[in-house]
Amino acid sequence: MSEYAEIDLGNGSRSKLQILHGTEGPSAIDVRPLYQSNGVLAYDPGFKSTASCKSAITYIDGEQGILRYRGYPIEELAKKCTFTEVAHLLMLGELPYAQALGDFTQTIHDHNVLHEQVLSFYNGFRRDAHPMAVMVGVVGALSAFYQDLQDYSKSEHRHKAAIRLFAKMPTIAAASYTYSIGRPQRYPDNRLDYSSNFLQMLFGRPNQAYEVDPVLAKAMDLLMILHADHEQNASTSTVRMAASSGANPFACIASGIATLWGPAHGGANEAVLKMLEEIGTPANIPLAIKRAKDRNDPFRLMGFGHRVYKNLDPRAAIIRDMTKAVLKHLNMENDPFMAMALELEQAALADEYFIEKKLYPNVDFYSGVLLRAMGFPSRMFTALFAVARTSGWVSHWLELKNNEHGIDRPRQIYVGSGLRHVDR
Ligand code: CMC
Repeated sequence: MSEYAEIDLGNGSRSKLQILHGTEGPSAIDVRPLYQSNGVLAYDPGFKSTASCKSAITYIDGEQGILRYRGYPIEELAKKCTFTEVAHLLMLGELPYAQALGDFTQTIHDHNVLHEQVLSFYNGFRRDAHPMAVMVGVVGALSAFYQDLQDYSKSEHRHKAAIRLFAKMPTIAAASYTYSIGRPQRYPDNRLDYSSNFLQMLFGRPNQAYEVDPVLAKAMDLLMILHADHEQNASTSTVRMAASSGANPFACIASGIATLWGPAHGGANEAVLKMLEEIGTPANIPLAIKRAKDRNDPFRLMGFGHRVYKNLDPRAAIIRDMTKAVLKHLNMENDPFMAMALELEQAALADEYFIEKKLYPNVDFYSGVLLRAMGFPSRMFTALFAVARTSGWVSHWLELKNNEHGIDRPRQIYVGSGLRHVDR
């Protein structure tokens, strides 16, 4: 039976709006008839109280610190699955069994190489360009390729575009890095799994074989799983909005990469490391905490706080443990960045300001420390995030294309000047 909420609009009119329930999580008031029936808009800048769509991909309970992909807790997926299996789960709805996994892996192998002409785009960039700037450009440029299967009303064409993006993204990201250091781009090696392959394309030298370190490959796979999807975050919402206009999927994902780059979103792991560098020594931590609390100081504790989590980000706990394991493996147990991060976390969690505002470490707090120890230059941190998040973006793109609701078009409250005339 349908439930309704009756709202007094304050102008003598009332509106009866349906209440919608999901499988779990908060209910939502369906405000769609509001404007049509009452001429009133809903105002929610930043979308803090808005459900922009119905989605069956990822569930988050920010108060409890819960994250699930298609119903499976992130902790179980991190422990028991590979990233390729998780990507299959996100994109196709189920974890793959033997045959399905083999087929999925084969399709990735069929599509992980870049068209040779795409490589010429890299030469147009400065060597010191940020890898995310290069990725926005190169992924957008893919819209000009693959003109064979562009009838996205057909599920086969949609699926092929999603696989192409997912399969090529590590190759694109790795080439952004090798170009920046003047090393030739390495081709994917189909004997390796997705994450090991990414590592060999990034760090392999042209004149020698690349030995995959299984501990680092496992850490990379785990990071990919943890960053794969996060429901309607800024970059995913951007991809969905671009897709609502019927835009080319490669262009849609390029818009997601552009949004992810921001320091309030995926750029935060790079910012965390920069912040730890700036703080310099544990003796300066009290000053950093003081500055973070000062409303007149733009300094924020990067890697802390989250729009949805008001509890420990479950991904942060998993990454913290993995960081410790990798540092031990690399004989870097006394890593100064890790020591600073642990001390900073403790100091913040004991501080009234952070307790009251429910600011906990997020996914980015430890990932920078881990990636640095693995040999990643800090400018590649967000690029790695983009590779992982492509699995989520294309899943949302597929979901939207399966259930299109027309072009997204928010409205506004106009606060500019009233009618005036050109006085001449
Ligand atoms: N350091 C100090 N104060 C903070 C911080 C922080 N990191 N985060 C939030 N606050 C304060 C903020 O100033 C505000 O105070 P007041 O109530 O006095 O105005 C209050 O906490 C609520 O903050 P908000 O900005 O309204 O929260 P939000 O939900 O809009 O922002 C956030 C979430 C992630 C943008 C923010 O916490 C932040 O800037 N954190 C640092 C950047 C970061 O780590 N980003 C990665 C996010 S996780 C990766 C991803 O999903 O992309």
